[in-house]
Amino acid sequence: TISSLLHSPPSDEGANETVTITGWVRSVRRMKNVSFAHVSDGSTIHPLQAVLTKEQSEDLSMGASVKITGEWKESVGGKGQQSRELLAEKVEVLGEADPLTYPLQKKYQTPEFLRTLLHLRPRILANTNLLHLRSGIISTLTAFFAENSFIQCHTPIITSSDCEGGGEVFAITRPESFFKTPKYLTVSSQLHLEALATAVPRVWTLGPTFRADKSDTTRHLSEFYMLEVEAAFIDTLDPLIALIEDMVATLIRSISASRLGKETLSAAGGEDKAKELEERWKGLLERPWSRITYTEAISRLNSAVEQKDAQFVFPPVWGAGLQAEHERFLAQTVFDGPVFVTDYPKSLKPFYMLPSTSTTPTPEGGETVACFDLLVPAVGELIGGSLREHRYNELLAEMQRRGMAVGDGGEDEGSLGWYLELRKWGSVKHGGFGLGFDRLVCYLAGVENIREAVAFPRWYGRCDL
Ligand code: 4AD
Ligand code: MG
Repeated sequence: TISSLLHSPPSDEGANETVTITGWVRSVRRMKNVSFAHVSDGSTIHPLQAVLTKEQSEDLSMGASVKITGEWKESVGGKGQQSRELLAEKVEVLGEADPLTYPLQKKYQTPEFLRTLLHLRPRILANTNLLHLRSGIISTLTAFFAENSFIQCHTPIITSSDCEGGGEVFAITRPESFFKTPKYLTVSSQLHLEALATAVPRVWTLGPTFRADKSDTTRHLSEFYMLEVEAAFIDTLDPLIALIEDMVATLIRSISASRLGKETLSAAGGEDKAKELEERWKGLLERPWSRITYTEAISRLNSAVEQKDAQFVFPPVWGAGLQAEHERFLAQTVFDGPVFVTDYPKSLKPFYMLPSTSTTPTPEGGETVACFDLLVPAVGELIGGSLREHRYNELLAEMQRRGMAVGDGGEDEGSLGWYLELRKWGSVKHGGFGLGFDRLVCYLAGVENIREAVAFPRWYGRCDL
């Protein structure tokens, strides 16, 4: 059958039997007396080789869909990816592809060019593999969370408030006054997950989130997937951090033990890149990962500047956000692996975070919150998480201080009164995190630009199809 032939090459399954395969032609090579076609059904990045007569190959061209019946034989050349090849008896073109107009070519085509052909790009085998990898990560994580007693929940995409308070929201304005007040595409499921976590203490979700960031970078999209977790009855960051380390280790073990892992390494773009990626995977299995407070990180960055180990465009100052260059230096140069930076200044973070209990001395009056960012080499910030303010009065005071609406719906529709109200009845200490799913794909596959990790990327100024 098709699956036994294409799913696990090189395969001896069905050896010397007559079989029929369907797929797309990835290349055709015409010799004097014989032709070779590489055919793929998308299940693996290694196409199958079909051996054809000159006449049989006449109508075949790259991109065409075909049905070939033939004998599954030991490969004569023996140099290809597979030990077997298909000696064609009957060749049927299902859908032609005119080689004069088909935009994909066998030669190298740049990522920028391929981004203008998003509808065809999944046919590039490295991109095909990313589809498999994404799907494989989701299955593994789904099982991981179930084993750890977390239930998967769905939260809304149309929301009435901007969770992070960053202001980078897409507003829904049509049809006019459909909802009474402006609504937005969600920037994070966190607030809704917190409500669910007051009924079921361990919840997670994976869904699209939207940010009208005008960032034109290799790690920002306007529409991206976020994996979010919320856990009740926790009073330190430790269980969240342990869960993350365990989650990633489980992923690495599952990927590297499977064909998906091998194919991801072969799709990495050369032997050196594959080796580097394999080292990265191995490194992630060593736990616990590094941890440093924000305050210590600022000192560390400043001493690097003093000792001329580093030069930054933005000087590291307590109270200012960590710039990409600072994050890169910490994850790549200082720790050479993942690092949790904890206890950021309160002024840098959203309203909902619990004050921290960190013992690192901060500058006079420098309040910090119980939070972390996970920084990783090449990608930068992969995860953001925190403990949440669970006390009614403290949360109310903070929301008022920030000028947020705290009414209870009705007149005050769109306010976060409901979120505050969760602290009135049966409130418990809790916390959670959000992981940039597309950044995780980049990190695990060694993909340099997030625009390749997503089949149909949207970013500032671009939403092509
Ligand atoms: O750090 P963020 O903004 O955290 C939150 O939204 C929290 N409410 C999550 C929570 O605690 N439940 O976003 C979480 C992660 C970031 O660490 C980053 O990996 C990713 O989402 N992210 C983006 N990924 C791609 N494109 C963008 N524009 C992103 N913005 C954030
Ligand atoms: Mg963040």
